[in-house]
Amino acid sequence: MHSRIAGTGGYLPAQVLTNAELARRIDTSDEWVRSRTGICERRIAAPDEQTSDLALAAAHLALASAGIAAADVDLIVVATTTPDMIFPSTACILQAKLGVRNGPAFDVQAVCSGFVYALALADLMVKSGTAKNALVVGAEIYSRILDWNDRGTCVLFGDGAGAVVLVPAMAPGILSAHLHADGHYREILCVPGTVANGAVSGKPFLHMDGGTVFKFAVKVLAEVAQEALAANRLPASAIDWLIPHQANVRIMDATMKKLGLPRERMITTVDKHANTSAASIPLALDVAVRDGRIGAGHHVMLAGVGGGFTWGSVLIRW
Ligand code: UT7
Repeated sequence: MHSRIAGTGGYLPAQVLTNAELARRIDTSDEWVRSRTGICERRIAAPDEQTSDLALAAAHLALASAGIAAADVDLIVVATTTPDMIFPSTACILQAKLGVRNGPAFDVQAVCSGFVYALALADLMVKSGTAKNALVVGAEIYSRILDWNDRGTCVLFGDGAGAVVLVPAMAPGILSAHLHADGHYREILCVPGTVANGAVSGKPFLHMDGGTVFKFAVKVLAEVAQEALAANRLPASAIDWLIPHQANVRIMDATMKKLGLPRERMITTVDKHANTSAASIPLALDVAVRDGRIGAGHHVMLAGVGGGFTWGSVLIRW
């Protein structure tokens, strides 16, 4: 038994925030953000939108493209670092908003690698026969955990959600998943706050050592892609599309270079979406599936990296 992706969906909030608009509020410029990151604009969730609302919109589109009714979903995994609340999980809230009550629903917290982690888990559950129609979502509202006066971080992130439906298949589908973590790097990218005794303790805003994160990301994205290639006995040239975590186009370009792949085989949405953490990979996947770049038989490599530190890859034969 194997699993395959039967449908994809993506949702971006309506409000567009451009670099030029940011430059009117803080000491930055469109030129700086574009040249250092490749980001031109990002989306910002409306005050009454929750992460589960973004997830719901993406989920409906993924289910429609898979031709599967919400009532038939028997597993929901939501990757998010910005849940609606401490508990219940955003996956349970999504389940209720979908109007269904079958099977398990839970969140995965692996920051920007969250979707790759969630997909790897859902793959195991579908392959084992535990689930037949798995909804796997990456959804985030980073705009609410950013210090909008910190130009070193606030220009980098955006809000959005991406989803896939995973179903059983006779042939893969998902060829392999490789996941890693090293908690010794937990302080280079974190939101070091929590809620305790009725108050926020610590700083509830994203903190990042950008340079260290940059170097770490380039190293492990290439390594984890190479690990997947070796496990599947494939050369790098077999990758039709690399979908790396969309944080900074310079990190993505450096990863392609390390793998010896031309830039044309990389899916890039960071220019329009910025870094949407766990949503970035499924959003980029959805764009490339819908515009027809990803087609039957293509090898698609998803490679995530994020806070924790966590990193991982999922190799798919489409
Ligand atoms: O999901 C993973 C999450 N994060 C990432 O992947 C981000 C990884 N890191 C990066 O993408 C890059 O390190 C950054 C984009 C954050 C920074 O780029 P950089 O080329 O490493 O710039 P830098 O940190 O070396 O900063 C260069 C200068 C500094 O000024 P001084 O000290 O040289 O005078 C910064 O203060 O740029 C300044 N700077 C800015 N200037 C204008 C930092 N942020 C901004 C800004 N606008 N928004």
